[in-house]
Amino acid sequence: MARRDDTTPTDGHEVLERTLGRLGDCWGRDNGHLSIDGQPLSARVAQTPAYLYSRRCLDASVASLRAVLPASIGIHYAIKANPFPPLVRHLAEQVDGFDCASLAEMQLARDVANDAQRLSIAGPAKSRAEHRFAIEAGITINTESVGEIERILTESRRLGRRARVALRVNPPFALKGSGMHMGGGARPFGIDSEAIPALLEQRDRLAEGGIDLVGLHLFAGSQSLDAEAIAATLNAWTDLLRDWQQATGFTPEELIIGPGLGVAYHPGDRPLDLDALAPAFARLAADLAALGDAGGRRVVTRLEIGRFLVAGAGVYLTQVVDRKVSRGTTYLVCDGGMHHHLALSGNLGAVLRRNWPLVAADRLDVPASETVDLAGPLCTPLDVLGKQQSLPPLAPGDRIAVLQSGAYGASASPTGFLSREPAIEYLI
Ligand SMILES: Cc1ncc(COP(=O)(O)O)c(C=O)c1O
Repeated sequence: MARRDDTTPTDGHEVLERTLGRLGDCWGRDNGHLSIDGQPLSARVAQTPAYLYSRRCLDASVASLRAVLPASIGIHYAIKANPFPPLVRHLAEQVDGFDCASLAEMQLARDVANDAQRLSIAGPAKSRAEHRFAIEAGITINTESVGEIERILTESRRLGRRARVALRVNPPFALKGSGMHMGGGARPFGIDSEAIPALLEQRDRLAEGGIDLVGLHLFAGSQSLDAEAIAATLNAWTDLLRDWQQATGFTPEELIIGPGLGVAYHPGDRPLDLDALAPAFARLAADLAALGDAGGRRVVTRLEIGRFLVAGAGVYLTQVVDRKVSRGTTYLVCDGGMHHHLALSGNLGAVLRRNWPLVAADRLDVPASETVDLAGPLCTPLDVLGKQQSLPPLAPGDRIAVLQSGAYGASASPTGFLSREPAIEYLI
């Protein structure tokens, strides 16, 4: 399906106010400048294009989630959302473990993790090197198929080491309202739920072969702003776990659950109501405690979360290079674009491109008085930063900050396209 543009005129200030309200003291205003930790961005960062991530904002995000989680439920950071090493290192002090998606992510996680933290790796085409690394480091392998189980058995035999394995489940449902479905039909991810009981029955055979079947990996979708839908998915997971326990006697020692907590990117989006999720998390903890009691063991439960923890902590900063009018449309052509921020251009899984919250980083106190389109430096009409965006009058040299840019930004973009310089990343 071709990508379309939502051309409703938009103004980033609504999201700015919301962000300032929620994560109060990291982003701010300073005499019309967007500021971070009380200093204007321009004083902190001389060069554009750049990504800036705020430590305090990361801390505030983790704290907001902890505030609604029972103590028995931990947090795993999904590194794929933002693998910038200083950011991952910073988060190591805040979270209970990491979810990795590659050898490089496992190496990073192992380097920064505390002793008490658990690591896991997921992904449908893990290499032999990834299996070997995970087995040697004791990282839980979220296995995605029967074929992969056989490959892990072979590798564990060769190494003479036991493998910690969790079965990644392709559920019979999708997370309703999520931007990206990762379950509920035929998928390359995980093992179809109907095949799970038979595999659980084989845990003794697997143990003889060197696999400790420690648990299950449950992930149904990403980017949901609907607390009710997330709560319903968590309930559906616990129903499945109970059925499987009754059918096979299997009680997981480790459960990794991706709840798909979403981020309100676009002006007009209603942010996810975390408080409304608190009862669902409390119920999850109670259900899993009961499951553990029935099976005679404690079920160590971790929520695997990427986007929600890091999106609001990041800003993408770009600069106007040219201002021109083409047949009645005013364009601000910028030094940053889709090669750094694919999602902003609407090319990362969006069918309808919607405007992101953009603000004039040094003109926050100037009212928006024009409606402009913003383009990046690439020679393709796909390189869009904004359409019909309301901004104060801007000229070459003026800086634009794209809010909510801390997740799936630099690392989820085609940085090699047109061989341009990468964006510089800063953790402040
Ligand atoms: C297996 C797995 N875990 C975790 C995540 C992170 O999801 P999110 O960033 O929405 O929290 C993803 C995202 O696609 C995923 O595929």
